[in-house]
Amino acid sequence: MHILSTNQFTKDEVEKLLSRASEMEKSLLDPKTRTLLAGKIVACIFFEPSTRTRLSFETAALRLGANVISAENAMTNSSTYKGEIIEDTARMLSCYADAIVIRHPTPGSVESASLVTETPVINAGDGGNQHPTQALLDLYTIKKELGRLDNLNIVFVGDVLHSRTLNSLVPLLAFYPGNKFQFISPKELAISVEQKEKLIEKNIEFSEGYSLEKALPNADVVYMMRVQKERFTNQNEYERVKNFFILKPKHLDIMKKETIIMHPLPRVNEIDYEIDKDKRAAYFRQAQNGLYVRMALLLYVFNL
Ligand code: CP
Repeated sequence: MHILSTNQFTKDEVEKLLSRASEMEKSLLDPKTRTLLAGKIVACIFFEPSTRTRLSFETAALRLGANVISAENAMTNSSTYKGEIIEDTARMLSCYADAIVIRHPTPGSVESASLVTETPVINAGDGGNQHPTQALLDLYTIKKELGRLDNLNIVFVGDVLHSRTLNSLVPLLAFYPGNKFQFISPKELAISVEQKEKLIEKNIEFSEGYSLEKALPNADVVYMMRVQKERFTNQNEYERVKNFFILKPKHLDIMKKETIIMHPLPRVNEIDYEIDKDKRAAYFRQAQNGLYVRMALLLYVFNL
């Protein structure tokens, strides 16, 4: 069982995963939890930088009693540097490990790796395409913070164009009735034709806008996103748009008291540090939830 995209899941499977994640949260330090993946080896190979995804997957594996082998900076520190293709790397890792977690800058590359091995492959982010494990932890966070997943006004702010998180999260939220999606971005980083086609194909309605101030008062979830420097070929263009939307303390005054502020992190300059003190700032709790959700996902790929 591979995890490549949120499009592979049914609503029922998603709910079971959320419920398993909740069990993991409650039983994190239970000695029995430490035995669930005893004897397994999880490989984490990251061709792009990561703090949360790699280290929470490794922690999840260790908390479940598995062992971890890990390659960071794999673009230069693995044999990819010598010209090995991702499929051959996956074949090799499947000789050593029982599950493989891969982050790669090229869209579709993790799926290519999955096609040559029966060993479960988990997509930890492939370029601007998908980040399914992030989307599931986001869903878990929204449910935990707001107590529901339906009838929400979700406002995504920032680099809509390059956000693999948005691509993965919107179809999951669309399982639930009454959810409304609004994408606020600089014009240059607005949703692409290809992204639009995918949403239309799934009958997912959305609106676009360019004003943070207009969107905030009705938002239940404000999902801030980093402008992704690494996806720009022209760095002058990045410099021009990088600080377009910054959430500042003054914005808190026009938001509802129960709204939550999320961000997949790392933030660069999208959220003023002063916002951290406000209880609506959910982004660090969101990252913490990644541990429980990734524990549930590891159990899922082992059919446990
Ligand atoms: N949210 C996320 O993917 O963070 P990292 O890049 O630190 O893994």
